[in-house]
Amino acid sequence: MHVLVTGATGFIGSHFVPFLAQRGHTVQRVTRRPSRPGDVAWDPVRGEIDAASLQPPEAVVHLAGENIADGRWTEAKKQRIRDSRVQGTHFLSATLAGLPHPPRVLVSASAVGYYGHRGEEVLTEESGGGTGFLAAVCRQWEAATQPAVNAGIRTVCLRTGLVLGADGGVLHTLLPSFKLGLGGPVGSGRQYGSWIALPDLLHVILHCIETETLAGPVNAVAPTPVTSLPVNVCLRDGFDPAKLYQLKYTVKDPYVLGAGTAAFRDAVLRLAGPQRNGGGEKPN
Ligand SMILES: NC(=O)c1ccc[n+]([C@@H]2O[C@H](COP(=O)([O-])OP(=O)(O)OC[C@H]3O[C@@H](n4cnc5c(N)ncnc54)[C@H](OP(=O)(O)O)[C@@H]3O)[C@@H](O)[C@H]2O)c1
Repeated sequence: MHVLVTGATGFIGSHFVPFLAQRGHTVQRVTRRPSRPGDVAWDPVRGEIDAASLQPPEAVVHLAGENIADGRWTEAKKQRIRDSRVQGTHFLSATLAGLPHPPRVLVSASAVGYYGHRGEEVLTEESGGGTGFLAAVCRQWEAATQPAVNAGIRTVCLRTGLVLGADGGVLHTLLPSFKLGLGGPVGSGRQYGSWIALPDLLHVILHCIETETLAGPVNAVAPTPVTSLPVNVCLRDGFDPAKLYQLKYTVKDPYVLGAGTAAFRDAVLRLAGPQRNGGGEKPN
């Protein structure tokens, strides 16, 4: 299968491209900074793409967007977060819809931010959108895939939770301060967070490409969300499994003892371990 990947130079994309190649698929990266033979240059906000270098794709995975975690949210940054996703997705969808042979499927990134903060409420793909800046961006981002949907391209909007990987995303940002013993609670430590380990996410994306019955929103998250308290506990003590074991019995917090937290802790340990030893993560 020939797959087009936008945002292929980012945290998720840079793992997804070799993951696809290992499975015998051919990949073309769509990027603002082409650097390899076969790369397709584009500027999604200006609505420009080097269509001549595009080989007709059977599937498209759209991951491009201004980084949310990096830097202060000034008005200019918020505009880049919104425009890169909404205008970029609309431009890509319209471009795919206009191809002589459109792809069979578009898997377009979205985020669990779609739901906003909802406390104890259990959220599924049928739940409505939340309030706040990110929730509004996610709604507009997903709606911007409409030209692809109208053209009959099977379109999946992947509402992804916090992605845990050793060399990018939230863990990469938090690990250095926790390794120095400087980590502390994030917020009140009580907000729920949905998460997914990077290797699992790569399989979820491929599953969405291959499963003809999937369309519309798909939550890409591990089964049980956790509060940010266990995030901190895992990161602070995750480098000493013996200490972590003790902690299970000393911290009287139902969230820390929950099954979801155990899975989360295992994912953190799995991902943090290789980095501690200087090795790389090998999602397979
Ligand atoms: N990481 C997470 O925990 C997480 C969770 C939920 C959802 N997501 C979503 O999943 C997607 C991929 O996430 P990621 O963590 O891999 O992102 P990332 O590392 O920030 O990479 C995103 C890519 O988007 C392109 N890009 C960056 N700024 C841009 C801009 N202003 N305009 C157009 N393109 C721009 C860049 O590619 P080029 O420079 O090659 O063009 C970059 O490599 C994003 O849309 C993100 O919101 C991520």
